[in-house]
Amino acid sequence: MKLLIVANWKCNPKTLKGANLLFNSIKRKLKKVKNIEVVICPPFVYLSNIKLSNHSVIKLGAQDCFWKNFGAFTGEISPLMLKDLNCKYIIIGHSERRKYFNESDEIINKKIKAVIEAKIKPILCIGETREEKEKGYIQKKLKSQIEKGLKRVPKKEIKNLIIAYEPIWAIGTGKPCDIKEAQTAYLVIKKIITNLYPYSISKNIKILYGGSVNSKNAKSYIKQAGMDGLLIGGASLNAQEFIKIVRTLT
Ligand code: PGA
Repeated sequence: MKLLIVANWKCNPKTLKGANLLFNSIKRKLKKVKNIEVVICPPFVYLSNIKLSNHSVIKLGAQDCFWKNFGAFTGEISPLMLKDLNCKYIIIGHSERRKYFNESDEIINKKIKAVIEAKIKPILCIGETREEKEKGYIQKKLKSQIEKGLKRVPKKEIKNLIIAYEPIWAIGTGKPCDIKEAQTAYLVIKKIITNLYPYSISKNIKILYGGSVNSKNAKSYIKQAGMDGLLIGGASLNAQEFIKIVRTLT
């Protein structure tokens, strides 16, 4: 399976010029990378300005979307609009959206369905808080987020789904998840999706790790924890560091 490395720029950089600079330095250096798909998810407003090249390993993604394709929904951006701008992936249910915008599993479920319907690949983010981890609720939390997020998603549509395991306490903290714990989470998630969907389908669902990934720990999440890719926030804003991460995996 091709590794999937997703850069989540969040609400950065501050200017279009900065976004183009960052994107172009990444694009230049990753020209020859093989067997890895790199997805850059900039803020919506930069999407149409970013110049991909046809043969590039880099694809575009978005950080969120609305669940309807058009209509009177002030301020929203739809899956079809993002498809029109060449987005191949959309991150859904990131913990920052759950926290700052009160996104519930029900809203996330609507978004997942809309993204799948638009034939774009959704990246469903899940993960426990520090408190849930300490209380031993990791499995329970992951199961509930997956089951609610994927409620009534038909099995024939599920093959394009990607799940990102992002323990909330590891995001942006510089305290990445222990490799053994990440491996356990990987197996737990595999088991949950295999209970929901036939193995022939669930085996193709990629599971990514996200939370304080850097060029020193990236390889262990793939080689030791068995992850199918990474979701990278802070380190993806530094072209050199991001390129280094991708290169350690080739
Ligand atoms: P981080 O963010 O790499 O800065 O921890 C990851 C994410 O939120 O996707």
